[in-house]
Amino acid sequence: MRVPHEWHKDFFKNSFYNPASPAAVEQAPAEAAFVLKQLKLKKGAALLDLCCGPGRHAVEFAKRGLAVTGLDFSREYLEEAAARARKKKVKLRLVCGDMRRLKFDREFDAAVNLFTSFGYFQKFSDDIRTLKGVARALRPGGLFLMDIIHGDFLRDNFRAKNWHDMGEYFHLEERTDSRDGMFNTWTRVPKDGGEIQERTFFSRIYDKKRISAALGKAGLKPLKFWGSFSGRPLTAKTVRLIVLARKAG
Ligand SMILES: C[S@@+](CC[C@H](N)C(=O)[O-])C[C@H]1O[C@@H](n2cnc3c(N)ncnc32)[C@H](O)[C@@H]1O
Repeated sequence: MRVPHEWHKDFFKNSFYNPASPAAVEQAPAEAAFVLKQLKLKKGAALLDLCCGPGRHAVEFAKRGLAVTGLDFSREYLEEAAARARKKKVKLRLVCGDMRRLKFDREFDAAVNLFTSFGYFQKFSDDIRTLKGVARALRPGGLFLMDIIHGDFLRDNFRAKNWHDMGEYFHLEERTDSRDGMFNTWTRVPKDGGEIQERTFFSRIYDKKRISAALGKAGLKPLKFWGSFSGRPLTAKTVRLIVLARKAG
């Protein structure tokens, strides 16, 4: 199976998908609180939210006194993040860029990458390039927390087809297993007879062993794993894989 080159540009746009659904926005304060409990940062510390999207976590981090930089390639989502920051009366530094080409150098005390904003590239070397960029962006000893979908759970619960009723539209997910990941096709069928939209994307599947190896290649040492933002241990039954890693030094 093939996916369009740079598929993310046609996928992460409001006309198709926005990660800041009302339910996701509601969960953000509790998720941010868990992240900050693990990062133990002092007030004013510099935090990078890599692939911040519409900024639902970034504003929570800023509300707690951190100097937050959010990076995303989507200008639409960054505009939404800026509006959210204005509404919450917090400051965010927002950077439009590609996660594979980070230009920061030892600027951050910590970095986060949340809600499976990783594993999008068909070339594994692009994932490593991204992680190396994160390592370079961190000060020595800096922490990196990632939240991605758990490969063990996905493999054990693989369903080639899944329909969801999303209220205004039906959402169909179709998956094809490949050696390193999955090809996913999402189809949105509006109930009012509007235009049917379909996008195909790739997601590389990471379990504890694979993400540890990838982080290690980039000079990031995994320290702890969890299976949820309530601190549940990581098991094959947990949908999420949350990992905390540290840059040597
Ligand atoms: C699943 S969303 C999560 C967004 C945000 N972290 C959240 O939890 O709401 C993935 C994000 O990754 C961004 N993204 C995708 N590919 C990217 C790339 N190559 N470089 C930078 N950002 C990218 C998308 O624009 C989107 O905002």
